[in-house]
Amino acid sequence: MRVSLAEAIALLKRGEAVAIPTETVYGLAADASNDAALQKIYALKQRPANNPLIIHISGADQVTQFAADFTPLAQKMAHAFWPGPFTLVLKSKPEVSQVVRAHTDTVALRVPNHPVSLQLLKESHLALAAPSANRYTQLSPTTADHVEAGLGADVPVLDGGACHVGIESTIVSVEGDTWQLLRHGMIAAAQIEAVAGKPAIQNPTQVPKAPGQHLLHYSPRTPSLLFQHRTDLLKYAQQHGNCVALLIGGNTIKETTTSNLMHIISLSNHPEQAAMHLYEALHKLDQLKADAILIELPPATESWAAILDRLTRAGYRENT
Ligand code: TXA
Ligand code: MG
Repeated sequence: MRVSLAEAIALLKRGEAVAIPTETVYGLAADASNDAALQKIYALKQRPANNPLIIHISGADQVTQFAADFTPLAQKMAHAFWPGPFTLVLKSKPEVSQVVRAHTDTVALRVPNHPVSLQLLKESHLALAAPSANRYTQLSPTTADHVEAGLGADVPVLDGGACHVGIESTIVSVEGDTWQLLRHGMIAAAQIEAVAGKPAIQNPTQVPKAPGQHLLHYSPRTPSLLFQHRTDLLKYAQQHGNCVALLIGGNTIKETTTSNLMHIISLSNHPEQAAMHLYEALHKLDQLKADAILIELPPATESWAAILDRLTRAGYRENT
């Protein structure tokens, strides 16, 4: 159900959950200070209660309402990447809702770079907890239609058009003067390193995981198979019929149907363009109800890291 900005504000103030646009993916938002409203997010998403939510704020000036410690390093990052697809995990103030941070001692904060969500945050004077507006482990939505298809037509959706980044934010935890990458996103580790003036802590035994990141995340319903080489993908398609494919390396987004009636969506060989259309393409291929979605993996280079991460979680590996 589409709602206007004014209706969205009224619903959020009443403690309801509303799907909202951001530049990354649509979020399912609720007042971050209202535990009953936050519980609605967990229920609608069927998300386990031990998986904390990101709080969306309208500017870095609000960080100290939530974080116990906004260190110079965290401030530098906020200044460089906000508003934008970048989430900071910081030590929490004790008064921040235990529901929003799932009883962890940290809080995740982000200033989204989308005119509609920024206007909503400013006009409502609310901080909004918002996970991606999809059921747990399903594909994230990048349009209002995706939200309704995934969560049902009764969910109020503020339509802000298609998301232009297309995959979820980069998540970084900052403790004192050190930082760690918790989730890849379109702000790459090298960019963060340049701003921080030092590399991330790499010791994997010390890495606090972003709890939502298990391998089945971001999955279409159709079984998805990953291929490193296009020749292997095409061989599989010939042997198995009824497959659809996502290829990387066209110059633009392109849909074609080959002579053996395989439906193909070809994503750009520019990572930003490919990310923008990635979930849209997977949603479309999923709807074709084929026996399998065959996915060609991009190269394992820094600029493709976030896309490779999402695709690896969407599927399981066939051959190499
Ligand atoms: O781009 C995005 O980040 C989108 C838009 C809506 O802002 N949101 C999003 O939220 O992707 P979600 O809930 O689907 O993913 C957030 C991830 C989860 O893996 C969660 O476990 C992690 O962030 N997270 C949240 N709070 C955390 C915390 N305090 N410490 C560590 N990880 C945290
Ligand atoms: Mg999510």
